[in-house]
Amino acid sequence: MTIQWFPGHMTRARRQIEEKLKLIDLAIELLDARVPLSSRNPMIDQILKDKPRIILLNKQDLADPKITSEWVAYFREQGLDALPIDANSGAGVKEIVPRSRELLTAKIEAQRARGVNPRAIRGLIVGIPNVGKSTLINRLAGRKVAITGDKPGVTKGQQWIKTAEGLDLLDTPGILWPKFEDQKVGVRLAATGAIRDEVLHVQDVVFYTLKYLGLHYAKELNERYLLSINPDQLDVDNPDELVAIMEGIGRKRGCLVSGGRVDLEKASQLFLRDLRDGKLGRVSLESPLDLG
Ligand code: G4P
Repeated sequence: MTIQWFPGHMTRARRQIEEKLKLIDLAIELLDARVPLSSRNPMIDQILKDKPRIILLNKQDLADPKITSEWVAYFREQGLDALPIDANSGAGVKEIVPRSRELLTAKIEAQRARGVNPRAIRGLIVGIPNVGKSTLINRLAGRKVAITGDKPGVTKGQQWIKTAEGLDLLDTPGILWPKFEDQKVGVRLAATGAIRDEVLHVQDVVFYTLKYLGLHYAKELNERYLLSINPDQLDVDNPDELVAIMEGIGRKRGCLVSGGRVDLEKASQLFLRDLRDGKLGRVSLESPLDLG
């Protein structure tokens, strides 16, 4: 498995975000609720430094609500406010501004004390590709906004997108990169559709995901594909068992080729599509408990 990332790109992305930090009161860190740590930039603390920050666990509609609550508690223990949202439907989005205002209470009070009428909060959404930045900006703006990518070295002429709630957003979100060097992170991101399928071998992604689901979401797999996985008896290190599960999935999804054999590649693709579309129910692919 080879995953490439380019150091020059990272340096540029970081510099662009650092430039924008000067303009804002608050960073809005967008993570994928199904894989909050894998979808997190490993250097985010160094990049944002002591800038007030709210974490949004987006795509909560696809994540296991119990695990999402555990992640909220996990971040709270680190002194970070985390809010589950669904930028597509808008669930949780109304909470963003009141929570942000709470985080900025001291600053707002200081402005009032100086006789300055507090202006709208200025925020910057940061997150890895596909985490839902554009969807959230559109949702907050209440209209479709043309979001342009950053041109290298150009941070002048930033536009503010005004939202009804008293939050102004920079129109170019900060695009971060995930930590690709760790294979588990790569497969989790591929499983959620954050990185293109061509980047990794589909089989690696499917096997890893099946192992995790077999142990934590056997009921969902059994129901969707009429399987009979018993998590207590599943030997996740035995590839034959995983292939047998894939064959079961392929049969249910009609991926048969001549001789009644299962087209494993097609079955894998359909399985990943089901997972990404939420057809398996609400599942998370990492939990604070996995951190040991
Ligand atoms: P980005 O700017 O961070 O790159 O992400 P973007 O908003 O383009 O969102 C990436 C994909 O994630 C989109 O799906 C979007 O609809 C989906 N998405 C964003 N927020 C949520 C959410 O809270 N829940 C769910 N279930 N999906 C979300 P797409 O398939 O690429 O496009 P489309 O479905 O909008 O056509």
